[in-house]
Amino acid sequence: MSNHEKKGGQVPQPDLSRRRFLGAAGAGAAVAASGGVAFAQGKPDPLITEIQDWNRYLGDSVAAHPYGKPSKFEAHVVRRDVEWLTASRESSINFTPIHALDGIITPNGVCFERHHGGAPEIDPSKHRLMINGLVDKPLVFTMEDLKRFPGRTNKIFFLECAANGGMEWKGAQLNGCQFTHGMIHNVMYTGIPLKVLLDEAGVKTNGKWVMPEGADSAAMTRSIPIEKAMKDCMVVWAMNGEALRQEQGYPLRIVVPGWEGNMWVKWLRRLEVGDQPWHHREETSKYTDLLADGRARRFTWIMDAKSIVTNPSPQAPLKSKGPNVLSGLAWSGRGTITRVDVTIDGGKNWVAARLDGPVLPLSLTRFYADIEWDGREMLIQSRAMDDTGYLQPTKDELRKVRGVNSIYHNNGIQTWLVRANGETENVEIS
Ligand code: MTE
Ligand code: CO
Repeated sequence: MSNHEKKGGQVPQPDLSRRRFLGAAGAGAAVAASGGVAFAQGKPDPLITEIQDWNRYLGDSVAAHPYGKPSKFEAHVVRRDVEWLTASRESSINFTPIHALDGIITPNGVCFERHHGGAPEIDPSKHRLMINGLVDKPLVFTMEDLKRFPGRTNKIFFLECAANGGMEWKGAQLNGCQFTHGMIHNVMYTGIPLKVLLDEAGVKTNGKWVMPEGADSAAMTRSIPIEKAMKDCMVVWAMNGEALRQEQGYPLRIVVPGWEGNMWVKWLRRLEVGDQPWHHREETSKYTDLLADGRARRFTWIMDAKSIVTNPSPQAPLKSKGPNVLSGLAWSGRGTITRVDVTIDGGKNWVAARLDGPVLPLSLTRFYADIEWDGREMLIQSRAMDDTGYLQPTKDELRKVRGVNSIYHNNGIQTWLVRANGETENVEIS
């Protein structure tokens, strides 16, 4: 006997009494719950009373999908670019559809891509990783060598481009969290701690910096302090259990946890150890922050705590009054998210959101707040705190110290205006 039958044929209803409601901005009594249509109240629903084709006929065989793809009804869940930003082979950027995802792991096919010279197609049997410079024993590894090397490990980390939110410094501009916050992904990497490989080569006592170099036409290079290289960097060949995607650096990339995405060199072919930073293009003319007084911040590696309400958002408007799940993501390059507060009245009242799923250091953290919407306009924001006690600043607080010349490291609080019809817009309030 099924549960359903035990309850005397009643259509199960969601238990709304257990939900924690936030009153909508100054709202009075909660609106009646609308979690489902009671069977007795409505006309018979043909989707219940009539057998559908998919229920009647045979489905696809296992031979139809040797490598599974999302349902065709999910075709809108894709990376997108912004027309006036570049989408050329010389320099391209697209964005993760974070408004259409849940949990904390980004599926491989929708991880945003950023490349400065196109994504090369590399034959793994011809790929080599060289370690040279201030080491006792310069080394060259094949992919097979790396996969045989002792010390393999799996870790989940977010990667955020320092330019995430960069178009919003001067004011609200792009309508969708995919575009304002989608230069981020969060996957489980498989590889070897960089320390293990550097120890094998033997870093000389004057070896203080490591320079990863890419095998793409941009030959991307950055300077990483040896302390960071030895602490938690990884050389990886897999993401979410399968080989890296071409776009993400197949067959090999470096992982620099919590630090700006630009340093995570893809198509990794060389690691040079030196006694000082190289001051290459990506750490001088780019990836520096010009302040109002003409000076520039440099070597701003760490991604500070940040959060975003992904639902509702401009690409994911509210559809119904009554109970709704407000959902979002928070992360910090300094450690673990300890708290996310949300407001629906533009910051007058804040409530602690529920952190859900694994809460890991240097990883995306999922949060939810179960809200009751009475159809009034809402000004929705979230603010994150990490285990160093750092609280995500407002955009105005950031501008006070950084000015508006910057492109990178915009971690200010985002505001969404939800209109009475549920449509949602990117706005700023001061
Ligand atoms: N590595 C190489 N070799 N070439 C590149 O153009 N782009 C960097 C970094 N590593 C880049 C690279 C930048 S700016 C970012 S934000 C990340 O890769 C993006 O990683 P993703 O494409 O996996 O999202
Ligand atoms: Co980047």
